[in-house]
Amino acid sequence: MQILDGKIVSQAVKDAIKIKTEALKNAGKKTPHLAAILVGSNGASETYVASKVKNCEEVGFKSSLIRLPENIDEATLVAEIEQLNNDADVDGILVQLPLPKQISEAKIINLIHPDKDVDGFHPMSIGKMVLGLPTFIPATPYGILLMLEHYKIETKSKHTVVIGRSNIVGRPISILLSRNAYPGNCTVTVCHSHTHNLKEICLQADIIVAALGIPGFLTADMVKENAVVVDVGITRVKDDTKKSGFAIKGDVDFTNVASKCSYITPVPGGVGLMTIAALLMNTFNACEQKFPSHKMEK
Ligand code: GUN
Repeated sequence: MQILDGKIVSQAVKDAIKIKTEALKNAGKKTPHLAAILVGSNGASETYVASKVKNCEEVGFKSSLIRLPENIDEATLVAEIEQLNNDADVDGILVQLPLPKQISEAKIINLIHPDKDVDGFHPMSIGKMVLGLPTFIPATPYGILLMLEHYKIETKSKHTVVIGRSNIVGRPISILLSRNAYPGNCTVTVCHSHTHNLKEICLQADIIVAALGIPGFLTADMVKENAVVVDVGITRVKDDTKKSGFAIKGDVDFTNVASKCSYITPVPGGVGLMTIAALLMNTFNACEQKFPSHKMEK
């Protein structure tokens, strides 16, 4: 069994971005600039956004953190996004999800200019991704692809079972791994809360992506010998032995599953770190205007 080490791979990605950013600056070009909006004070969201901002600094990007109170109305958030859309210095806009109930996430995602959509959640980005056109790819699925690529894991003709169908992870990774590309060319099964015989389906998998948000859900009896297991779960679980008062748990029962796998991602230290590295890649590409929405590829 080999660990897919998010620390090593994300650092390699970040080192490469840092060098390219330095080169941009030395050439007198613009410094990549990510603007992150955090609404309210959800503990997990606070941690993620702080980490995104810190990582921007590490690679030499500019970052802006816009904090808005939990009770803001939709119009205020709309105005903030319009301002960032029109700010030529801002390359990437990220609105941390989930948003409070009074705000429509779909409306907000739609409003972000597709050229600045570094989360890859805009319908334009998703549409292009489905069609296999160059675009921003949502950070967590993108991070998983970078991880598989780094370890040169064979994906062609493999049966991949994705557990979870969220717009952020499950659905996009299922599309990406079925593309005629590397990593890709998998036969993909997407499972969700209405799937019958989940255990039997998982037992057929060469690759399992667990992205449902239930700690320890994937147990050893659901995993075939030598499977590749990618754990996307990052649930906070109360733990009084920790200074923070909680521990981060993945969707995989790592202790019992690991010994059956050929490769497995740990939590923490796996996919979570890759998500941030992928976001930085998207922000760099936004600055370079790699996928301008007004210029459709042939
Ligand atoms: N909430 C959970 N994951 C994500 C993500 O990748 N991007 C944003 N904006 N919010 C999230």
